Amino acid sequence: MSHSVRVQPSGHLFEIESCETVLEAGLRAGLNLPFGCGNGSCGECRARLLEGEIEQVRNADFHFSPIEQQQGMFLMCANRATSDLLIEAHEVSEVEEIPHQQVTAKVHKLERLQENVQILHVRMPRAQPFRFLAGQSVNLAFDRGPTLTLPIASCPCNGLDLSFHIRRRPENAFFFNGLKKGRKVDVDGPTGDFVLREDNGCARLFIAWEEGFAPIQSLIEHVIAEGNEEPLCLYWLSAIPEGHYLSNYCRSWRDAFDEFHYESVDLEPIGKENWRQVIERIIRERPRLGCMDLYITAPESEADWTRDAFLDAGVDPERFSMFRMEAK
Ligand code: FES
Repeated sequence: MSHSVRVQPSGHLFEIESCETVLEAGLRAGLNLPFGCGNGSCGECRARLLEGEIEQVRNADFHFSPIEQQQGMFLMCANRATSDLLIEAHEVSEVEEIPHQQVTAKVHKLERLQENVQILHVRMPRAQPFRFLAGQSVNLAFDRGPTLTLPIASCPCNGLDLSFHIRRRPENAFFFNGLKKGRKVDVDGPTGDFVLREDNGCARLFIAWEEGFAPIQSLIEHVIAEGNEEPLCLYWLSAIPEGHYLSNYCRSWRDAFDEFHYESVDLEPIGKENWRQVIERIIRERPRLGCMDLYITAPESEADWTRDAFLDAGVDPERFSMFRMEAK
């Protein structure tokens, strides 16, 4: 049986199953609820019950004072809902609110998408989900292997399983030469401020370049998990044959949502347009850019030109986010 949980002051609403804690259901629904230990020790996930009934399902070492108990304070990680709830809880929106974490995790799966592209799935220890905001990156360090910084491609609504996009390059040969499931990897972070701005009712435009689709995927999955209904528009630009390695996944978004535009664009030499021509075309095609939120992953060599082009077209600098990528 499921119930609904309304969160104040944001007004966010999510469904909770009888087998879930309030924290688990809230994170699954894409809310950036605060948490630390996940097991009732740290008190980070504190919230206040305003209406409804809850039931404690986990022993908690953290204790509230009698006054806090009278005020309805409870731990979201240790309680489930037995009726519809109205709660008061903080929701994290700033990167500064995410603690720095160092976790030893394991390679869960290497999923080969194409000859030269695979998805690395990393699993956190049980009850130790990794906290990050969609669009952020982490440092991955393998024992007797490489250390590298990669954007997380998955949604923060599942902090136990992180995914990363790996294209075969000389520095990435390690991932294509026998990396096995179960191998330990130290995850350090998160870093970066290429994150979603507060939902302000604006349409969102995403432009991804090559494997810069990874942080864009994280952003879009989070927007979808939150249940926002504003129009979404995604252009994925690539100059590499079969560079749109998750195009079917993008088309499934387009098929599932009424207001989702998706276009994969082949750049020169495999396509007819170069980066700047495509950006100029997007500006012509999107006359209402002044009231859109923009998120762009761009080659470093085109980053400044691209930003200037969009700002000249009337984009609000406060609504423009860019992830600069080194050309490989
Ligand atoms: S997350 Fe630590 S007490 Fe709930």
